[in-house]
Amino acid sequence: MTKKLRKAVLPVAGLGTRFLPATKATAKEMLPVVDKPLIQYAIEEALAAGIDEFCMVTGRGKAALVEHFDIAYELEATLRERNKTEALDLLEGTRVEPGSILTVRQQVPHGLGHAIWCARAFIGDDPFAILLPDDLVLAETPCLAQLAEAYYETGGNIVAVTEVPREHTNRYGILKTGRDDGRLVEVKGLVEKPAPDKAPSNLSIIGRYILMPDVIKYLALMERGAGNEVQLTDGMARLIGEQPFHGLRYQGTRFDCGDKVGFLEAQIAFALKRPDMAQAVHAFLKKYV
Ligand code: G1P
Repeated sequence: MTKKLRKAVLPVAGLGTRFLPATKATAKEMLPVVDKPLIQYAIEEALAAGIDEFCMVTGRGKAALVEHFDIAYELEATLRERNKTEALDLLEGTRVEPGSILTVRQQVPHGLGHAIWCARAFIGDDPFAILLPDDLVLAETPCLAQLAEAYYETGGNIVAVTEVPREHTNRYGILKTGRDDGRLVEVKGLVEKPAPDKAPSNLSIIGRYILMPDVIKYLALMERGAGNEVQLTDGMARLIGEQPFHGLRYQGTRFDCGDKVGFLEAQIAFALKRPDMAQAVHAFLKKYV
């Protein structure tokens, strides 16, 4: 029987070195795309997929990520006093069910697999989603909801995938593919960041996963992989053959907000979707191209 998906893990312990100096005293997941921080996009996407329990895997200097979902009593009281109802409405997406966000610390930067292992007590025996807040997906149906729908069809493990240029395979987890109906593809193997000439395909994992809790026992082996880190991809690879494992070609556009150019592109794409801004942004863009 397929268990209901209720939990999400959000690895947010990274140092954000690619965004220094902006991230010297601020978590990179607090950087806004238009007017909303990356972490809020991730939490809202998880909520839209029916998830109601969250675990942030954090580190030093990341307190703002938790504060963002707390009640800012002084701010809200002041806005109410001044009748700023529109401003108050903007806080709506920051209100979550009390007690629904837990945090664990990843004290050492040993990789994404290690970060997920740090959430093992939260995961317990349940299926869980992972959202990497750096990966932002603009889609009509939020990406994780698409993944959850596929999960209820297939059961087992499922990752969001997209084709990337051959020369970029060394930036991603890459699939060795089996049966492929154009939407769902059977995963036969997984390799973390292979060189273009070694990559089994150009189908890459983006930062949305639904995994079975069994992955934890493989991550617990703490085997070092690419970059001498404990790789989630290697832990997942051990599940192939034991459990169903699929890739889903999601509908939508993914932006790599961990990269400066990708981050800028996300700003433009999301702004152009905003009725209050689209026209003005469209108009000024012409000046630059
Ligand atoms: C991580 C994963 C990789 C995945 C990518 C998606 O890499 O290890 O398998 O393809 O996220 O963004 P990172 O971007 O942390 O190097």
